Amino acid sequence: MMKARQIKRGVHWVGAVDWDRRLFDALIPLPDGTSYNAYLVQGNQKVALIDTVDPTMADVLMNHLKDTPTVDYVIANHAEQDHSGSIPMVLERYPHVRVITTAKGKEMLMALLSVPDDKFLTVADGETLSLGDRTLEFIHAPWVHWPETMLTYLREDSILFPCDLFGSHLATTDLCVVDEGQAYEAAKRYYAEIMMPFHPSIEKHLKRLEGYEMDVIAPSHGPLHDRPPFILEAYRSWVFDQPKNTVVLPYISMHGSTQKMVEYFVGSLVDKGVTVKQFNLVATDIGKLAMALVDAATMVIGTPTVLVGPHPNVSHAAFLANALRPRIQFVSIIGSYGWGSKAVEQLKGMIPNLRVELLEPVISRGFPGEEDLRALDDLANTIADKHREHGFR
Ligand code: FEO
Repeated sequence: MMKARQIKRGVHWVGAVDWDRRLFDALIPLPDGTSYNAYLVQGNQKVALIDTVDPTMADVLMNHLKDTPTVDYVIANHAEQDHSGSIPMVLERYPHVRVITTAKGKEMLMALLSVPDDKFLTVADGETLSLGDRTLEFIHAPWVHWPETMLTYLREDSILFPCDLFGSHLATTDLCVVDEGQAYEAAKRYYAEIMMPFHPSIEKHLKRLEGYEMDVIAPSHGPLHDRPPFILEAYRSWVFDQPKNTVVLPYISMHGSTQKMVEYFVGSLVDKGVTVKQFNLVATDIGKLAMALVDAATMVIGTPTVLVGPHPNVSHAAFLANALRPRIQFVSIIGSYGWGSKAVEQLKGMIPNLRVELLEPVISRGFPGEEDLRALDDLANTIADKHREHGFR
């Protein structure tokens, strides 16, 4: 078991690394595990614990704290249980501790963990808490990732503790990012799965954070950023940059007709200079699909027809894309049917959150003939033209 690790004098990581977890929220694949980072900040008068750990690993946190006689405050940046779930154990060990959170955070922690009303001190946006020679500033930042979220800034050391924001699901023994390639991949996957639905809120938070000097960004998942511009620039590019000249193509084929259409269509798009990311949903890691949606301009969904509707796995992917709210601009549908199909109408109805232009679908009866292939060429031409007109590169 790893010991507590010093970030700066009197500021320690006291979290838990979960090498074995493979699924988050019973939905999101975690190919590289994760960590639940908690931090102990010792002032010369008071001691604060920033976030806790998933309750499955509470013993690791309590072991880190075994030589800490007093904790005065638990800062609950976020009420989700992977960070708050060990608060009841901390309260049991330190009965006088006060839980510092937003008003909404209090309401949620009372509902989720039955934390008693008299244990809380709620803080307003911009409010500070003195630990003696150290000061914590609380920055309300709703929707990263729930409505109650806040960030905590340790002024004297210029450390930002943003909880989920800027995190990554990555188990590692490195305290801070060492391999930026690996860290970028993990952070982008995390952004796609957790943060992307809230990109309008993140835009505002990124602008506000420009006013803060940062030596270290210490999120509550994955390695810390001792070179903050690395993660800030990555977030800025995902949130502010133009979409890329890329088509994301999730699909399924049952008897080869949709497969033939996908192969032909991908070739046609590539001939026209468009990048394609193709995902056969039989074997797709949905995290990879979500990542591809972060910066693509277009999604084309490929489906056969099952009982007059889209294949259920395709419906799942469409539902997911709708929930993640990527910044794609265009959507189309290609696929096939045997005797009748309402797949296009049904799929269109599944993506109301996507503010996109729907391009003419191409649906073939059975195996695609010459006419269907020409229609796919036309769709590829339309996409290439649209991307060019919008300056997507
Ligand atoms: Fe890591 Fe939204 O919890």
